[in-house]
Amino acid sequence: MSIFRTKDLDAMIAAARAPAGLKKVLGPMDLVLIGIGAIVGTGIFVLTGTGALTAGPALTVSFLLAALACAFAALCYAEFASSVPVAGSIYTYSYATLGELVAWMIGWDLMLEYGLASSAVSVGWSGYFQSLLSGFGLNLPVVLTAAPGSLPGVETWFNLPALVIMLAITWMLSIGIKESARVNNVMVIIKIAVVLLFIAVGVRHVQPANWQPFSPFGVNGILSASALVFFAFIGFDAVSSAAEEVKKPARDLPIGIIGSLAVCAVLYVAVSMIMTGIVPYAQFLGVDHPVSLALQHAGESWVAGFVDLGAIVGMTTVILVMAYGQTRIIYAMSRDGLLPQRLSRVHTRFGTPFFATWMVGIVFGLISALIPLNVLAELINIGTLAAFSLISVAVIVLRKTRPDLPRAFRCPGVPIVPLLAIAFCVTLMTFLKQTTWLAFGAWLAIGLVIYFAYARRRSLLH
Ligand code: ALA
Repeated sequence: MSIFRTKDLDAMIAAARAPAGLKKVLGPMDLVLIGIGAIVGTGIFVLTGTGALTAGPALTVSFLLAALACAFAALCYAEFASSVPVAGSIYTYSYATLGELVAWMIGWDLMLEYGLASSAVSVGWSGYFQSLLSGFGLNLPVVLTAAPGSLPGVETWFNLPALVIMLAITWMLSIGIKESARVNNVMVIIKIAVVLLFIAVGVRHVQPANWQPFSPFGVNGILSASALVFFAFIGFDAVSSAAEEVKKPARDLPIGIIGSLAVCAVLYVAVSMIMTGIVPYAQFLGVDHPVSLALQHAGESWVAGFVDLGAIVGMTTVILVMAYGQTRIIYAMSRDGLLPQRLSRVHTRFGTPFFATWMVGIVFGLISALIPLNVLAELINIGTLAAFSLISVAVIVLRKTRPDLPRAFRCPGVPIVPLLAIAFCVTLMTFLKQTTWLAFGAWLAIGLVIYFAYARRRSLLH
């Protein structure tokens, strides 16, 4: 059955280990910082506002639940990343284990995660950028500030700053900025510093009365908010895409994946507690910069300004990593013959997949200009939760089909932990809106049609 054909796992591992491959320069600390660079962004800086409206102060519990779902999935990721350290993340892993059709569907599904996440974070970036501009008394015409339908009762046409930042980053990626770990590290340190500043200053303005009632919308509210703020954790899986450039992948990849997730979980729980402690949750209605709003509410305007600036820097790195991840997945799928060859052609002068990069930038830039953030975030979440469930299945399958494969890091408690990952992810998925499910179903159906009409016959394995 050609749809179940797999790539040769051992050949892939050998090729990735070959000394002639990519330079092995990254250590565990670099990986934790890459992870945080990809994780901390719109989720914490923007979506916490809607999350607080949905769950009330119990938003903190929502963050904990989302972190648990990610932790179980992260253990599965870590096992794969340490035993199959090749670029391409779960698209590649599943090509070697579950067969071509599943790999194609995951690659297709990952476009919802990486591509749309770059759009969504551009929208978050735009909100903070406009908040910063207005601090200087500058305001864009209202129709250019947001996607149609984003602001109830206000006429908006499209989100100009979101489109501009997306195209600017596309330009940088296409001419091949050296994604030097150092630049990333500096931006990430600024981002963490801003979050810590918020915690240190904010904690002094907490009024415990704001935490009462703690869970005004009950379990339903907590789980719905959790399904939304799950977005804030997306990105730890990007660590695995650095697999071929790590000095000791077997040891360092699990540290990078699990370490970055743990740091972010602690930061998020602290931020959500403090935010809902400063401002009564109902006041977050329609706010697209809730973290700095909390500080303004507390009378700390200058700190709020710093947070705006740090959030802008921080979200820039997330857009960069996500758009980069998207082009590399398209590149890998095209190299395998599943997408048109043009998408894996490398520019002779810049050494980047130029055409693929601009295609990603223009398509997802337009999406960021035209679709409201909450709609985007739900769609990204459902795609990512589905991908996390599949990787958990793949871990169980690989234990059965390749028990002999050396695994430097073994996910503990298989099959219980992968099954827990699946249970948590599927539960969160059920709390997403019906329209999100419909859009997700439509996306998968389009993917299936393209596979059978095009990709299956063009595959190099054919
Ligand atoms: N986790 C990333 C963010 O919140 C996608 O921006």
